[in-house]
Amino acid sequence: MNITAGVISIFKLKISSLKAGVKLGKDIYSYNSQLLLPRGTVITKEHLENFTVRNIAEVYIIESTPRLKSEKKFEDVYSNSLDVVKAFMLEAKLGKTLEFDEISNMVNLLLEQVFSVTDLFRQMRIMKGKDDYLFTHSVNVALLCILIGRWLNCDEETIKKLGTAGLLHDIGKIYIDSSILNKPGKLSESECREIKKHTMLGYNYLVENESLNEDIANAALMHHERADGSGYPLGTEGYSKNICVSVVSVADVYDAVTSNRVYSAKRSPYTAAEILWQESFGKLDPRVTKVFYDKITNFYVGNEVVLSNNEKGLVIYVDPSQPTRPVIMVGDKFYNLATDRSISILEIID
Ligand SMILES: [Fe+2]
Ligand SMILES: [Fe+2]
Repeated sequence: MNITAGVISIFKLKISSLKAGVKLGKDIYSYNSQLLLPRGTVITKEHLENFTVRNIAEVYIIESTPRLKSEKKFEDVYSNSLDVVKAFMLEAKLGKTLEFDEISNMVNLLLEQVFSVTDLFRQMRIMKGKDDYLFTHSVNVALLCILIGRWLNCDEETIKKLGTAGLLHDIGKIYIDSSILNKPGKLSESECREIKKHTMLGYNYLVENESLNEDIANAALMHHERADGSGYPLGTEGYSKNICVSVVSVADVYDAVTSNRVYSAKRSPYTAAEILWQESFGKLDPRVTKVFYDKITNFYVGNEVVLSNNEKGLVIYVDPSQPTRPVIMVGDKFYNLATDRSISILEIID
């Protein structure tokens, strides 16, 4: 788990990627609870050898500045990403090959933002609705994929791949008639079939590109597949536990639920977290949903929220066993949503 407090970051690293000179972030104990090395110790070459002898695979280390610091404003990077998404989608529609370098640069900038802004969800909420859903959704899913990759302690290369997969996952929608894509009402069966084609169309386009990792094309193909076979386009046969597919699927659900779309109004992050919780059983990959709803619900402790009974209150406590049902303080009374199921959180107030 990565813990960030102010400009001090503590994160777990595999011994194989550890170098002498870094500072230990947590005490290390032996199997019989004896303190081997206290927090703050500067790791030497001898320590590294000793870790191997003692079969210590991972340790926490401290960085006194953020790992990546961005000089750029979130808003500017987000707007720039929207332009890049629009450009590569248009090029895909025209049958041109994807400019991978540009996408890769964009993902690096998004990654810098995820690692340096402390209020990512608030910043993302401000940017929602700035453009067509397809474009903002692509950028949001990329940001969420990077964030989940960070929470899962993935290495940087994997995190970049996740971000790229998020950015490109719905590229196939550019080939779908916009009157169907943006239809406000309920879709007919044939229109539904048409929309579902975006997975295959995206895959066919991306798989042709040799500079892209095949997991990225697979994420475009499989992000609507579910473990119980209820997804599309292939059903049970199409489900994959590849981490890239799993992360994109979860990020996709979260952003779709919390965004305004032509046919449905946005819902709160708590509703999204509850949906992810329910879908962990037989649909989405629980390795990813768990870290996501645990983290997301803790993000909002201290935030003001609007309840379904129209009262406004403060999130004051999250029970780890029921992360989506926190305790809310309204004036001098408390609602424990874990026990009071008649009330839910409608909205988060910034
Ligand atoms: Fe999709
Ligand atoms: Fe999507």
